[in-house]
Amino acid sequence: MTERHELDMNRMPEHIAIIMDGNGRWATRQGMERSQGHFHGYRTLHNTVIQAAELGVGALSAYTFSSENWSRPDNEVTGLMDLVVMALRAEIEVMMEEGVRIIRSGRREGLPQEVLGEFDYASEQTQGNDRITLNICLNYGGRNEIVDAARQAAQMAFDGKIAPKEIDENLLSSLMYHPELPDPDLLIRTAGEMRVSNFLLWEIAYSEIYVTQTLWPDFSEDELVRAIAAYQSRTRKYGAVVDEQ
Ligand code: FPP
Repeated sequence: MTERHELDMNRMPEHIAIIMDGNGRWATRQGMERSQGHFHGYRTLHNTVIQAAELGVGALSAYTFSSENWSRPDNEVTGLMDLVVMALRAEIEVMMEEGVRIIRSGRREGLPQEVLGEFDYASEQTQGNDRITLNICLNYGGRNEIVDAARQAAQMAFDGKIAPKEIDENLLSSLMYHPELPDPDLLIRTAGEMRVSNFLLWEIAYSEIYVTQTLWPDFSEDELVRAIAAYQSRTRKYGAVVDEQ
């Protein structure tokens, strides 16, 4: 097993994206309600952000509620929104102490006012923190994000600010929800599914993927270190031929 001190501190992923899957299964296995799984998932996220900051990771994107999750039972949706509000209120002090900047990705339309208000407050309060950025993806869809960027580009062209041929990868990247974040180096998915589920589709083009069977509430520092060790053992090629001797 890789220990924290065995990681190469010069090759830390700058940005880790996490699909926090398996809360429901975890709860069912413990004989608990699904909402309890989400609560434990929130505690795991709290710990993971602090551990990632200690390891020198600059940003963490957490898939908290997808644009497709509205189809879940009403009580689960309401429970998740209430959990987010509660957590943002409860965490603000710790986030200030730990130097965590909180940002949100996803469409505002559809989110309850209370959730938006709490995010606006947390983002404003923590905007000066620079140890780690926590990007909470809520009402987020990767395709929506690309559509939103494309609409802005089309509007710019329609207004005569750019020519259509100026719409390129750089321009679209600059129109994503948080262009200031580097693309994720590492995408972690818990609970074993081998898919990306509409998460950060544009940004993960060259991310290394780490899938673990561990259910999100059981995700520990050991597992985070293992994921980073796996990432550091890989050769990133970006489509080129690399001599691996
Ligand atoms: C997927 O597991 C998880 C979610 C849809 C919710 C993730 C939310 C959290 C971890 C809480 C984060 C809280 C804050 C405050 C940011 P699932 O329910 O689909 O699990 P299953 O596939 O086992 O049913």
